[in-house]
Amino acid sequence: MATRYREIDEPDTPVRVDKLIVGMRLPFDVFIKDKGLTKQLFSKGMLYTNITRDLLKERGISEIYIKIKDVPLLDHYLSQTKTQKTSFYDDPVLFKEYSYNKEQYYQIDRTLLTPETTINFNLFTLDKLVFTLIVEAAESSPVKIDENILAASGDIVIKKSDVPLYYAYLDSLLKTGGASKQDLPKLKAAIIRENSKIIIKDLLDNPRSGEKIKEVRSLVDNAIDCILENRDAVYDLLSLRGYDYYTYTHSVNVAIMSIGLGIAIELKKDDVEKLGIGAMLHDIGKSTISYEILNKQGRLDDIEYKIIRNHVIEGEKILRTHKNIPEESFAAVLQHHEKLAGKGYPFQLSGNDIKLFGRITAIADCYDALTTSRPYKPPFTPFYALSVVAKETGDYDPELLKVFIKMLGKIK
Ligand SMILES: [Fe+2]
Ligand SMILES: [Fe+2]
Repeated sequence: MATRYREIDEPDTPVRVDKLIVGMRLPFDVFIKDKGLTKQLFSKGMLYTNITRDLLKERGISEIYIKIKDVPLLDHYLSQTKTQKTSFYDDPVLFKEYSYNKEQYYQIDRTLLTPETTINFNLFTLDKLVFTLIVEAAESSPVKIDENILAASGDIVIKKSDVPLYYAYLDSLLKTGGASKQDLPKLKAAIIRENSKIIIKDLLDNPRSGEKIKEVRSLVDNAIDCILENRDAVYDLLSLRGYDYYTYTHSVNVAIMSIGLGIAIELKKDDVEKLGIGAMLHDIGKSTISYEILNKQGRLDDIEYKIIRNHVIEGEKILRTHKNIPEESFAAVLQHHEKLAGKGYPFQLSGNDIKLFGRITAIADCYDALTTSRPYKPPFTPFYALSVVAKETGDYDPELLKVFIKMLGKIK
């Protein structure tokens, strides 16, 4: 009898990875076989997301295994693909509207909306893919920030056209000491972060703008000075996890972590600047991808996947049209998806063929992707994300990883 139980407990039933359904929880434990060893990869109940799917694909895993006793659960799970009611994401009209709207808004940092101060621009929330007006304000009818506003669920966003008014609001916070004295360094860091996000968003909207690209260097310099003054400023410069995914927020986070790592390994300030510029612009090629593909939650087909991966090459092309981008910065753009063991893209470089800036940005990029939420995907906690990155020892430079984990170890 004992043997029989062991047999039904053996994870011997293979399932093709492309059968797993993005956006649904796995009703069984998932195992892989690696060099003759069976390892548990996911636990029952885990949400299977685009990112998990991409991680499996990147690691070349095309088959997972489940226990024989879980086969009925698998059958039921697979039958839901056919009967599953089409979600918001599958409704092409609604999804197009959301994707389009998302580009017309800019996500602001709610921690900067200070109670008792007034704003003169409208606030909206982006929650469950829907934009809702929550504060109607204008120069002639300013509105005081209160706790109700700050408690709104979802991300707080403003119309892109109101960004100058938001800038003026941030400026007034600095001048009037919207925060108490001891919060001033935090406020300054937050403003550097907001300025950076706004400029990078502008740049992603107009990637060939010479004016905007010139500003990138000073954004990077501000961040470097801030971290040099106080190493813990890395935390204040990072954006908190939000409800939705924004390439501009991701770009700034990757730049801040890369700069922090560059400083921690004692690169010269000049080199940290070049690293920061490359990291800030590492995903600029995504500006060539349509909103629908970028935001797509369902399975990407092969062509869409190719288009996404091509952002690296497109990014380089765009940056070549600009003068004054240091040659060294290109490694961050071209190599941030390369993996140490040669399984990355676009050139499957390995080991030291991946330059230092490429190896640094790759770690920051993966960490930020894991900790960011997407619709249908809760973010991993920083602790868990670090443990995921740390396990990918074949992918990332182990020495850099150690420093990175030490740098971010304090984030809860
Ligand atoms: Fe990328
Ligand atoms: Fe990225």
